Amino acid sequence: MTHVIDGNAVAEEVRTDIRAGIDALESEGVTPGLATVLMGGDAGSATYVSMKQRACSEVGIDGTTVEIDPEEPPETLYETIDDLNADPAIHGILVQMPLPDHVPKREVLSRVDPMKDVDGFHPENVGRLVSGDPRFKPCTPHGIQKLLASAGVDPEGKDAVVLGRSDIVGKPMANLLLQKVEGGNATVTVCHSRTQDLAEKTRAADILVAAVGRPEMVTGDMLSEGVVVIDVGTNRVDADNEKGYELTGDVDFESAKEKASVISPSPGGVGPMTITMLLYNTVVAASLQSGVDVDL
Ligand code: GUN
Repeated sequence: MTHVIDGNAVAEEVRTDIRAGIDALESEGVTPGLATVLMGGDAGSATYVSMKQRACSEVGIDGTTVEIDPEEPPETLYETIDDLNADPAIHGILVQMPLPDHVPKREVLSRVDPMKDVDGFHPENVGRLVSGDPRFKPCTPHGIQKLLASAGVDPEGKDAVVLGRSDIVGKPMANLLLQKVEGGNATVTVCHSRTQDLAEKTRAADILVAAVGRPEMVTGDMLSEGVVVIDVGTNRVDADNEKGYELTGDVDFESAKEKASVISPSPGGVGPMTITMLLYNTVVAASLQSGVDVDL
């Protein structure tokens, strides 16, 4: 029987710990604060930002959203980040990606105070992660580690194949799976758009993380019996419904399920974890900045 991961259920378990952390902070007079900055005009971004906002209020984090017109110059965004860096009520800052083309992403990521960088995208935090001393683990890969643990999957000694080399998912996922700690210790292969013989690589996977952004690209014939499949894709595809689209993963669920021992569907797998780990990192940030110990 294939175990189908329920991302909402796992997220709810993690949120219990997060709420306990927030209680500990509140008892010392600290309310964790998260600012989300939205500048891009990407179709999904506004939806994701409002979902983050709602999740904050559900657990007791003081969430604020700052919207900047995508036509504004980069300096407007820099000034906003500087203000948030200086605001003691804000413990976490997230600048929603993608940004408009005229805004240099690396400048922006470096501008965020690394102690408030709940995405874990500042070069200092990327360096800490790679060197084995993470401060903030990027939300989606960290959430995937939690999903694997919840399904009893230990990556140690396994062949893990990560499809996609994005800064947000692929690269940090590969790094987390590689670390010499619990939840890591895998042999990691990263595949991308220039990879040759992709199916040969995916068939060698004990654990496959698909984060390429191409609808149902991974099919059952590319997988070996017993594989653990994590689908990170949330692709909008045209549909005959009110919205005119529906979300689908990078994995063809039905054919992959025939091969997999464990599979996370999309939607309903990784998505709820990404937001939950953002709340988690905000609590970590509030703890680091206030000096109040939190057991996470
Ligand atoms: N866009 C898609 N995923 C993410 C994420 O995890 N963080 C940010 N800042 N933007 C995103």
